[in-house]
Amino acid sequence: MVQATDPVELRVINDDNVIAVIDLSVSADQTDLVAPNVKSLAQAFATTKVWVRAVYAGGVPVGFVMLSDDHDKRRYYLWRFMIDHRYQHMGFGRAAMDLLHDYVRTRPGGDRIYLSYVPEDGGPEHFYKSLGYVDTGVDNHGELEAVLDLTTPRPAV
Ligand SMILES: CC(C)(COP(=O)(O)OP(=O)(O)OC[C@H]1O[C@@H](n2cnc3c(N)ncnc32)[C@H](O)[C@@H]1OP(=O)(O)O)[C@@H](O)C(=O)NCCC(=O)NCCS
Repeated sequence: MVQATDPVELRVINDDNVIAVIDLSVSADQTDLVAPNVKSLAQAFATTKVWVRAVYAGGVPVGFVMLSDDHDKRRYYLWRFMIDHRYQHMGFGRAAMDLLHDYVRTRPGGDRIYLSYVPEDGGPEHFYKSLGYVDTGVDNHGELEAVLDLTTPRPAV
């Protein structure tokens, strides 16, 4: 059984786990917040400069992350992120974001990361703000853009 103390990792998606990642889902009232993983993986297949990983906790697939990974433009944009409804509020989202930030720091010019979120009750705004993201003021097709400076330490929880 997955426990909140289990170590979190980002793993490559391959033959062994792609179906498990597709089978992960958010709750019914969260489906407007993020696309299904099968759609994201199809888009990743057809897109260059994208980085996808499965989020694992205690060796179990619990989530999915997809980054627009454009080292030419030196722009890194969190495209999709989800933790399966069964494993939310266990700290895995926060731990996975820390690992994502570590990855971006290894990239050329990786001193900041962008994302956009749906500004609605029950959405991830508080989650991202608690990680230090600040709004840029840009409206990204109805979603609000936010950015995190990766050169400063993370705010204390
Ligand atoms: C947003 C999302 C990724 C967060 O993932 P998560 O694993 O639930 O996040 P965490 O558990 O790390 O943190 C969420 C909250 O749970 C709390 N929490 C952490 N560990 C906890 C624990 N052991 N017990 C109870 N609560 C806990 C955190 O303090 C945090 O609280 P906060 O909302 O006051 O900041 C997840 O809710 C999700 O997939 N949502 C739907 C899709 C979505 O919105 N994706 C983002 C698209 S932009």
